[in-house]
Amino acid sequence: MRLNLRKPLVSIAALGLALTATAQSRPPVTLDIHVNQVKAQASPMLHGLMTEEINYSYDGGLYGELVRNREFHPNDSWLTAIEGWKSVNHGGAESSFVEDKTTGPSQAISYSAKVTVESASASARAGLANEGYWGIPVRPSTTYKGSFYAKASGESGPIHVALVNDNTGVEAAHADVPALTSDWKQYHFTLTTNGAVRPSSLYRLEVTAARPGTFWFSMVSLFPPTYNNRPHGSRIDLMEKMAALHPTFLRFPGGNYLEGNTIKERFQWKQTIGPDVDRPTHMGPWGYRSSDGMGLLEFLDWCEDLHMQPLLAVYAGYSLHGEHVDPGPDLEPYVNNALDEIEYVTGDTSTKWGAERAKDGHPKPFDLKYVEIGNEDWFDKSGSYDGRYAQFYKTIKAKYPDLQLIATAPIKSMKPDVLDEHFYKSADEFYADVHHYDKTDRNGPKIFVGEWATMEGNPTPDFGAALGDAAWMTGMERNSDIVIMSSYAPMFVNVSPGAMQWHPDLIGYNAMESYGSPSYYAQVMFGKYHGDEIPQTDELGSNSRFFYSVTRDSKNSEMYIKLVNAGSAPQPVDIKLDGATGVAPIANVVTLSAKTEAATNSIDHPKNIIPVESRFERASGNFTYTLPPYSIQVLRVRTK
Ligand code: AHR
Repeated sequence: MRLNLRKPLVSIAALGLALTATAQSRPPVTLDIHVNQVKAQASPMLHGLMTEEINYSYDGGLYGELVRNREFHPNDSWLTAIEGWKSVNHGGAESSFVEDKTTGPSQAISYSAKVTVESASASARAGLANEGYWGIPVRPSTTYKGSFYAKASGESGPIHVALVNDNTGVEAAHADVPALTSDWKQYHFTLTTNGAVRPSSLYRLEVTAARPGTFWFSMVSLFPPTYNNRPHGSRIDLMEKMAALHPTFLRFPGGNYLEGNTIKERFQWKQTIGPDVDRPTHMGPWGYRSSDGMGLLEFLDWCEDLHMQPLLAVYAGYSLHGEHVDPGPDLEPYVNNALDEIEYVTGDTSTKWGAERAKDGHPKPFDLKYVEIGNEDWFDKSGSYDGRYAQFYKTIKAKYPDLQLIATAPIKSMKPDVLDEHFYKSADEFYADVHHYDKTDRNGPKIFVGEWATMEGNPTPDFGAALGDAAWMTGMERNSDIVIMSSYAPMFVNVSPGAMQWHPDLIGYNAMESYGSPSYYAQVMFGKYHGDEIPQTDELGSNSRFFYSVTRDSKNSEMYIKLVNAGSAPQPVDIKLDGATGVAPIANVVTLSAKTEAATNSIDHPKNIIPVESRFERASGNFTYTLPPYSIQVLRVRTK
């Protein structure tokens, strides 16, 4: 079918985006796009997500739990305080609390907070307060679901639970839980705010008694509404931000978080499933303890909610401080553990671990295609990775021949299915390396760029970083016959003071709000306008600040011409659509641009730089298009 190429009624481009070449423009470059010559299929899984517990990504981030250190874990540092908790003594009440290592609600949580109330009354309550993760976000007309485990050594009377404003002491919501018994028991409550409450994170959760006595508390938990209403689920704004990236897979649980600093501190998936009270928690490699509320099944639920493939990384016998397990009999328990993990993900309910997953609430097996063996094993100087990968490969393939097994370092003894390569570079380094995969041997393993980022901007990438990232993405996209998957890292940062261990990070947030960095929006554009074919495109007269990638969506015959101008002058581009029998004159344009490379988004200015849509009305089989300075654009041109 020919397109109806009517003369446009209006021939000016909206928003002035189609600049005409000026004296300051760079010399034009030419893109000769052979519309019907498909060079390769674009990988449908090119754009994905990578995640780990870093920068308070889950606790104090995606995982909806609002209570910090809900289990009252003894402090991991030399400080004696129990992190997150304080005594509350209203109106002259007297109480104190200590860690009690002799009693707890479960084998995994075998300790608790022992609260001794010397004096208290209905008008002078005493107990505990939790500060949350840099505050507890309170919003109007909202219901919070909470619970705790507790016991008492005598009469406790009802326990009062409330969201209390730090400045005014006024309760935004409260509930009374019936008197405690002498045995550990879980109590549930809901807190509902009214419409007049002003949104604020200057709140704490108080748990108080109105009479003297001795009480023990553990696993004090409070959740706001979650994405898809999942019990103990994820923060809605962050899930929506990820959804807008159109991710096709989630690489989890790390990263360094998979490996741990030591073998003992590795991610032990069996300790992250089942009821929260049965999860012992563990020390992560980024300097803080993980509640493990975000456990194996929660990662999988996350994949299900955002329609992503899980890309499961299994611990492979190397930890960050250099401990390793030799291939052979010593490694066998780790390989078997990975087999159990794969069965937990994929097994039906007749299998041991599939039945366990069903018991945990998800009878339906998950679809799994990719398993990664370890993380960044090039750091292992013992040279054991070849043997470790081979042992995992042989055992896993024997049971799951269809799984694709990703190596994290080159393997000398065999060709891995897929090789994970990581790139943390400056924008200039990415510009210089943008043809990296143009030269890659097509007979080698497929490539997964499992971590990459332009290392500019703090806490989140600035526009210069977005330009570096966009340039790098054009290179991956042009070569997505070989680069089959990619994921930026790290994805999340809690921007509250002291929460960050690594920058830049794609998406920033505090207890109340979140924002996407310029780099995030560049990825939204690439994820949304991905296409399924890569037409042969020849570039003539390029320069060191211009980058491109062209894909086509065969279903709607739309060309996605992605152009990056990392320079400070306009960049004319002569675009030839060879072989097109018709070209719609009106192209839709999506633009991300800024005045400077230092320009950025932040928690206070979240939308400084966001994509803007406009129309270019002079598209044809052969037209000149001028990119504004410092810009990332997608031109959507319809051809036949
Ligand atoms: O993305 C941050 C860290 O960088 C990852 O945990 C690790 O794999 C890499 O070194």
